[in-house]
Amino acid sequence: MTNIKKIAVLTSGGDAPGMNAAIRSVVRTSVYHNIEVLGVYRGYQGMIENDFTPLDARSVRNLINRGGTFLKSARSKDFRTPEGRKKAYENLVAAGADALVVIGGDGSFTGALLFNQEFGFPVMGIPGTIDNDIYGTTYTLGYDTALNTVVEAIDKIRDTASSHNRMFFIEVMGRDAGFLALNSGIGGGAEKILIPEQHSTLEELVSEIEINHNKGKMSNIIVVAEGDTTGKNVFELKKYVEKQNPDYDIRVTVLGHIQRGGAPTCFDRVLASRMGVKAVESLLEGKSNYMVGINNDKIDLTPLEKAIKGGESKLDPDLIRIAEIMSI
Ligand code: F6P
Repeated sequence: MTNIKKIAVLTSGGDAPGMNAAIRSVVRTSVYHNIEVLGVYRGYQGMIENDFTPLDARSVRNLINRGGTFLKSARSKDFRTPEGRKKAYENLVAAGADALVVIGGDGSFTGALLFNQEFGFPVMGIPGTIDNDIYGTTYTLGYDTALNTVVEAIDKIRDTASSHNRMFFIEVMGRDAGFLALNSGIGGGAEKILIPEQHSTLEELVSEIEINHNKGKMSNIIVVAEGDTTGKNVFELKKYVEKQNPDYDIRVTVLGHIQRGGAPTCFDRVLASRMGVKAVESLLEGKSNYMVGINNDKIDLTPLEKAIKGGESKLDPDLIRIAEIMSI
């Protein structure tokens, strides 16, 4: 065991459903082990600006079901500078914190690692992003909720698409990764899914739409990951396909930030609770510079460095094959 007496916790980068549940878990696990907790508002920016609040078990009541992050989140430019990080360190030490839990994505982990390397301050990461694009964990917090939000939207669009025999391009978030698009596409029964991990051309797209048409498919749902490079964007895709066949009646829906909000699913709530416990207890065991993850349904640790640098995409290529089979 270490001498840690106060743990600081922050959320950073794009918010994700389940972040509140993770803060709650970090707070309650700390209190359980008689450790104080310091909440940091607005991510690293709050550390630089001394924007702290003490948290206890009751401060995190009625939070498990709430989307977003009550500590708020930010992408701090100042923390990218050595002066910013120094100020953050001095503030944290003055507030009595001796370890830090960072809930966020790979950009947030890069900051955490740098912070540790410069000041030797113990840090632990919890992956929170709807993109699921972090190496070292099968699932990130918020991904399951976003997936269900997208599928619900696709279901609704399907109702109107089939009523009008229309084709819909639906743009789904995910930054450079296709997890959200591929899985929501399979779950929502998409006729075609375009993801950055599998390059396809405009000609291929048009020919597949033609084949579907000849098979008697009256409407088409085409899910497009925002990072896909088949066209410039969904509007360009629509324009191109329309030009090839003006008979198609095409609409575009960009789901946008609706995918980031909403109450977390039970999966994300349980995952957040498990990850928070592991993060705090690992710090108390003297560990630092790790990210908590879930692999084969076991909560484990991956060195932050590995999580940031990544490796091969963890996207299962078999899912691409499954999507193709399901859309015949
Ligand atoms: O990383 C989460 C995410 O929602 C991505 O899917 C998306 O590309 C990006 O954040 C949007 O960022 P912002 O909220 O800054 O517009």
